[in-house]
Amino acid sequence: MKGKFITFEGSEGSGKSTQIELTCRYLKSKKQKVLFVREPGGVKISEKIRNILLDVKNTDMGDECETLLYMAARAQLVKEVVIPALQAGKTVLCDRFLDSTIAYQGYGNGVDIGMIKNIGKFATQSIKPDLTIIFDIETEKGLSRTNRVKDRIEQRTLSYHQKVRKGYLELAKKEPKRIRLITVNKSIEEIQAIVKQHIDKLLKI
Ligand SMILES: Nc1ncnc2c1ncn2[C@@H]1O[C@H](COP(=O)(O)OP(=O)(O)OP(=O)(O)O)[C@@H](O)[C@H]1O
Ligand SMILES: [Mg+2]
Repeated sequence: MKGKFITFEGSEGSGKSTQIELTCRYLKSKKQKVLFVREPGGVKISEKIRNILLDVKNTDMGDECETLLYMAARAQLVKEVVIPALQAGKTVLCDRFLDSTIAYQGYGNGVDIGMIKNIGKFATQSIKPDLTIIFDIETEKGLSRTNRVKDRIEQRTLSYHQKVRKGYLELAKKEPKRIRLITVNKSIEEIQAIVKQHIDKLLKI
């Protein structure tokens, strides 16, 4: 692949969307070709799957269905836009990716992580992020920052979200080459400066 693939991860309210938007603006100011997408969603079919996944009325959705729907949304996004953009030499910024399924459905719901990785390979056609930035925030603090109406996943218990956070921390430990962990105890600007350092190093800009 000619382009680089960068994913932004972390639990609720950790600042992913804030930082990815600033990064997108930064890269455009550097005249880089950028594609910015979010998960689940990013393309028409995947946005429809997103609506099913996040709908609070779907109280009876099983863990298996939930995991596979996330993967289905991802498969379509990867095929329709991520791979073509990487082939065209663009830098792809993605708000959540496969690590989210490992953290939320694996560590959070207890779905087998080996299986998530296998299905993940199929869904993503084996593409892997060149760089993943995980934002780590104290669970209660993160949850209190998202002051909009809570979706089906956000509504889950504090202990669920604590398991998700622990999952991200373990992932960061297991893959130190790909994953950079940023502790969110600084201002948006200070965190953006750290993000930029990692991105500059990867893109050599
Ligand atoms: N470093 C920071 N210090 C203080 N507030 C912040 C910081 N980073 C983000 N915020 C604020 O916290 C809120 C949540 O941030 P943001 O939406 O970027 O998080 P997120 O990880 O994308 O959340 P979600 O998981 O819900 O998508 C926003 O109101 C944002 O302005
Ligand atoms: Mg967000």
